[in-house]
Amino acid sequence: MTKFPKNFLWGGATAANQVEGGYNEGGKGLSVTDVTTAGSLEEPRYLTYTLNGKKGKVAGMFASSLPDGAKGEIFEDEYYPNHTAVDFYHHYKEDIKLFAEMGFKVYRMSIAWSRIFPNGEEEEPNQEGLEFYRNVFKELKKYNIEPLVTISHYEDPLYLGQKYHDWQDRKMIDNYVKYVTTLFKEYKGLVKYWLTFNEINSTIAFLEFMGDKITDEDAQRAYQKLHYQFVASARAVKAAHEIDPDYVVGCMIAGSVSYPGTPDPKDILENRHSWEKNAFYCGDVQCKGEYPTFAKRLWDEYNVKLDITDQDRKDLKEGTVDMYTFSYYSTSLVTSHKVGDEGKGNFAMGQKNPYLNYSEWGWSTDPTGLQYYLEVIYDRYHLPIMVVENGLGAIDKVEDGKIHDPYRIDYLRQHIQAMKKAIKDGVDLRGYTTWGCIDLVSAGTGQMSKRYGFIYVDSDDKGEGSLKRTPKDSFYWYKKVIASNGEDLEN
Ligand code: BG6
Repeated sequence: MTKFPKNFLWGGATAANQVEGGYNEGGKGLSVTDVTTAGSLEEPRYLTYTLNGKKGKVAGMFASSLPDGAKGEIFEDEYYPNHTAVDFYHHYKEDIKLFAEMGFKVYRMSIAWSRIFPNGEEEEPNQEGLEFYRNVFKELKKYNIEPLVTISHYEDPLYLGQKYHDWQDRKMIDNYVKYVTTLFKEYKGLVKYWLTFNEINSTIAFLEFMGDKITDEDAQRAYQKLHYQFVASARAVKAAHEIDPDYVVGCMIAGSVSYPGTPDPKDILENRHSWEKNAFYCGDVQCKGEYPTFAKRLWDEYNVKLDITDQDRKDLKEGTVDMYTFSYYSTSLVTSHKVGDEGKGNFAMGQKNPYLNYSEWGWSTDPTGLQYYLEVIYDRYHLPIMVVENGLGAIDKVEDGKIHDPYRIDYLRQHIQAMKKAIKDGVDLRGYTTWGCIDLVSAGTGQMSKRYGFIYVDSDDKGEGSLKRTPKDSFYWYKKVIASNGEDLEN
């Protein structure tokens, strides 16, 4: 019988902008997320701004959506869910205590860049920001919970985003390296595991979401942004190893699994190309240190000409990651035929797979896809792996003060079983952090009602509620899972 390795890192994951709140406290500068409104399945999230003295808003989540010259701004008549989120900033002790009660071995969290460098270009870091995370790390240490820190999780300082049009300038690399070097020096001895960029390949996914509307310029911007981020990541890995040889630095990729919709050879080939674009393009650069041969095909499709220097190529080669981490939620189909209904959801597109069930937000449940991805990725890179996001976003009901969430338990159980099968196949899987271990603001829709947590937080889509924390049924279930090292998966 295959078992999870003895020191398997069980835990949960969050991101600063989705849990912390305190958006203007402790000397923090504004992040792009601070000027992003709430949306829903029907309505996108908007960035609010002023341009030539006029107020405006544009759908999007990244500074790249802002029109040239626009300044992101907070408007009094708009609601910004990330301003308070679930107020981890003031509740972190209580929350970490609950994580410890579940038996967490690891907690994946991110740092808000604008808490450390409020506009991103100051010479000296903001001491209050550094102190906040130091206190969080110390609190985790108290319970022997290992922090796994994402350095950049969809959260650039607004000032940088505007000035450099969301990574359209090489100067962003130096800004990022200054920021990470500060973290690596500051938290030596408190943190061991680091991830450079959350879902770095999402830039490609966002390009894909544009469908036929993609212009050569859009593609140029997306691939150039990625290149600068690859170099920034590689230089971060090198800096980390120089500062502390024990640091383990990983890439973080959105685990994008697609299947050919039919046996039509064209679907098979298209699906292979989809894997290359969505999974291997970033994985190869970050794990192997060079662009794969198929990169030229991707660039040529949109006449992309990248600014790549010899020094960049050297940095990429010398800054390959120590581990591969990824998020995994659902899978998609690649086909030019009609095989299922048209899917609809946040970050979801294409036809539905008739063999799978779909959540209220249009995401399929596919544990086999997780096993498949683990096997493919381990075979390709031979690096230790962690699944650092996985979970079901669902509407929870509070009944007599209790939250019964068997759907979440079912989802997680199936995915844990899938991981077990991959381990049996020889995959060197080291950890599992479920997404949104405490309810948080959805990145895609800005809603609170899309809940992932083991811990319910009393707050709604308008930010109304007491913020009281209540363990759900899944809390007690996950506690047993961890205590039995993944053996006891029953309710
Ligand atoms: C991942 C992100 O893409 O998916 C998270 O890293 C995000 O930040 C998660 O929250 C789930 O997506 P959503 O839209 O349900 O919040």
